[in-house]
Amino acid sequence: MYIEKLNLENFRNYKSQEVEFINGINLFLGLNAHGKTNIIEALYICAFGKSYRASKDTELINYDYPCEYCKIDVKYNKNDNPHTTSFYVDKMNRKQIKNDEVKIKKIADYVGEIPIVIFSPESLDIVNGSPAKRRNFIDMICCQMSKSYIIYLQEYMKCLKLKNTMLKKEVVDDGYIEVLHEKMSKYIKYIVEFRQKIVSLLEKYAKGIELKITNNEENIKLTYVTDFLNMNEEEIKKYLDDHLYIDKLRFSSVKGIQRDDLVVDVNEKDVSVFGSQGQKRTALLSLKLANFELLKEELGQTPILLLDDIMSELDSKRINFMLKYIENYQSIITTTEDTFVNGISNIKIFKVSKGTLEN
Ligand SMILES: Nc1ncnc2c1ncn2[C@@H]1O[C@H](COP(=O)(O)OP(=O)(O)O)[C@@H](O)[C@H]1O
Ligand SMILES: [Mg+2]
Repeated sequence: MYIEKLNLENFRNYKSQEVEFINGINLFLGLNAHGKTNIIEALYICAFGKSYRASKDTELINYDYPCEYCKIDVKYNKNDNPHTTSFYVDKMNRKQIKNDEVKIKKIADYVGEIPIVIFSPESLDIVNGSPAKRRNFIDMICCQMSKSYIIYLQEYMKCLKLKNTMLKKEVVDDGYIEVLHEKMSKYIKYIVEFRQKIVSLLEKYAKGIELKITNNEENIKLTYVTDFLNMNEEEIKKYLDDHLYIDKLRFSSVKGIQRDDLVVDVNEKDVSVFGSQGQKRTALLSLKLANFELLKEELGQTPILLLDDIMSELDSKRINFMLKYIENYQSIITTTEDTFVNGISNIKIFKVSKGTLEN
């Protein structure tokens, strides 16, 4: 699968812009704050129905002109058939997403249609930051693979919110919390099994890639950390019930899949604690390429690679490895310098300047 065309109308610092991609490397080159990441963001929105960096959809509307709305249209090719997705939001926050002209009512029905892998400097949080970033990394893969996963995760989060609201009350209704626990244990069972499956698949792909980048010197191992491994629904419910007294003391839920983590070991040591900067970057590159491989194999579609400003994070050895790896697929790469493009074929370069593109 690949994206053929992107049309932006009043989106961020673009007024009206058409972009024709190649099914290869699409390089967006320009100075900072000229609109490179906005292209990545627009494509991400077409895949997930929302931005990863706007707190409100209305922020996406170009503020330089008197605009009432913004619109993103993509044309993509899947199994040799043309498809379209469009995203629209106006100043009143009325939002509409359409796929092949059909309105999307629930985002769970749509996510996964355009599979993507995004790699940006913030991705380093996966090997540096808090468990939340690593959970999010795993969840993004799971959500693109299973609509049921999205629904179970959403339902779980709704229950968790209700539970936390109750825990903050002066008198806690234990019966109400037990009913929530009953529902939550069903969702937890599904989510834990799915996460477990994805982590072991991811590890399988990441191992091979890591060994190749490091000439067999570094071994990567992934461990999914959760309290609920191999528990059935009753055992999960009992576990939640048994910890309710701590929840009450803390006025918040202490146990649940919102505490899960992923440990990334390199040569038997947790890379987030003991890894050098170079090892962290190598591990991250392996994880992202493994993410790509996993979606490609499991979905039977080649994901679109969105690489935002990562060239400055990688050394020439890792850049060359990555470019070699991705040269036969579609990628959208943003960068402030193009020193690494020599010798690469199947590349189209777009010069980005103050919200306009030239190629
Ligand atoms: N809603 C908006 N309307 C107009 N311009 C915007 C809007 N949101 C962001 N911008 C502008 O977009 C530019 C940032 O674009 P970005 O793609 O992040 O830059 P970079 O090329 O560094 O990746 C900034 O100049 C910012 O002022
Ligand atoms: Mg940027």
